[in-house]
Amino acid sequence: MSEFHVVPGVVADDILAAAQDRVVRVVAEAYLLHDAGRTINPDSYFLRFPDKPDSRIIALPAYLGGDVDTAGIKWISSFPGNHDRGIPRASAVLILNDYATGRPTACLEAAGISAARTAASAAIAAAALGGTWPPDGTPAAPRSVAFVGTGPIADTIARYLRQVGVPLDDVVCHDLEESRAARFAAGLGGAARTGTLADALDRDLVVFATTAGTPYVPADTPLRPGQLVLNVSLRDLAPELLLRANNIVDDVDHCLKAQTSPHLAEQLTGSRDFVTGTLGGVLRGEVELDPALPTIFSPFGLGVLDLAVGSVVLAEARAAGRAIDIPGFFPG
Ligand SMILES: NC(=O)c1ccc[n+]([C@@H]2O[C@H](COP(=O)([O-])OP(=O)(O)OC[C@H]3O[C@@H](n4cnc5c(N)ncnc54)[C@H](O)[C@@H]3O)[C@@H](O)[C@H]2O)c1
Repeated sequence: MSEFHVVPGVVADDILAAAQDRVVRVVAEAYLLHDAGRTINPDSYFLRFPDKPDSRIIALPAYLGGDVDTAGIKWISSFPGNHDRGIPRASAVLILNDYATGRPTACLEAAGISAARTAASAAIAAAALGGTWPPDGTPAAPRSVAFVGTGPIADTIARYLRQVGVPLDDVVCHDLEESRAARFAAGLGGAARTGTLADALDRDLVVFATTAGTPYVPADTPLRPGQLVLNVSLRDLAPELLLRANNIVDDVDHCLKAQTSPHLAEQLTGSRDFVTGTLGGVLRGEVELDPALPTIFSPFGLGVLDLAVGSVVLAEARAAGRAIDIPGFFPG
């Protein structure tokens, strides 16, 4: 048997489609391990290009302890111009390394893995902050939902919200490209419809998954007590909005960087006092929310989550004989 495997995207996506429940569990466990200090998750490294300012490739090295006990790195590109080429904005590979020897054990196509871990994280936050975590199979109370930005990340978040029992029966979809919002709404079925940004901002649960580089949701937007915002794209909200909200992040040091709205809020106030807690803390029941405020969850996106989900995909692909052996990958 060779020591190195390649997992193509078609295989990873098949496995992910059948393993949503497991993905939710391993992502929640990874947050708890991170919270317990059993991960190593250095800063992401951004490769930018002066002649392509909208594009970037990010390296996310990490080590995840516990049963996974694996190191690795995700290398993920964002080239928004790809839309005009008819291919997705994001593409990625994930390298996994054996922790005993340091040797790379696999290379996985990782756009789907990255989307799944992002969506699982958003869905866990929606359930935990909405008081329905852990999911027990009973649907959470019906609530109105909005998606602002309707690309593949929003699509995957929709599937994972359903996975944790958040009903999507009353949904507004908004996108700068109206045809994308319409396609997304049609895909959701039921009572999903397209709407304006103002319509969207009035919903109980608002998911941001755009590619905005600077805030366009104004400081005087009336977010209300109990409203939940999943700030997955991180740069849509005026920082003042965060100063009138409960703020949950995945990791304080990571999230308050790279001109995210939480980073802008820190620059505005000179302090991190507006951060209420982390998702790991919420899952441990250690974070108290002020019920008089809306709640904003801002996940920077931790490399340890990619390791957690990538390890599931590799194990399943190997068990099914669908991981491609590369004999002789390591000489000698
Ligand atoms: N926080 C995390 O962990 C994490 C992980 C993965 C992706 N993301 C982010 O999620 C976002 C969405 O990813 P995707 O792959 O679906 O991107 P995508 O480019 O395929 O889709 C983004 C959509 O947002 C729309 N949009 C852009 N600006 C908008 C605005 N101001 N108002 C309304 N719609 C707008 C675009 O028209 C497009 O349809 C990206 O910003 C990506 O960086 C975050």
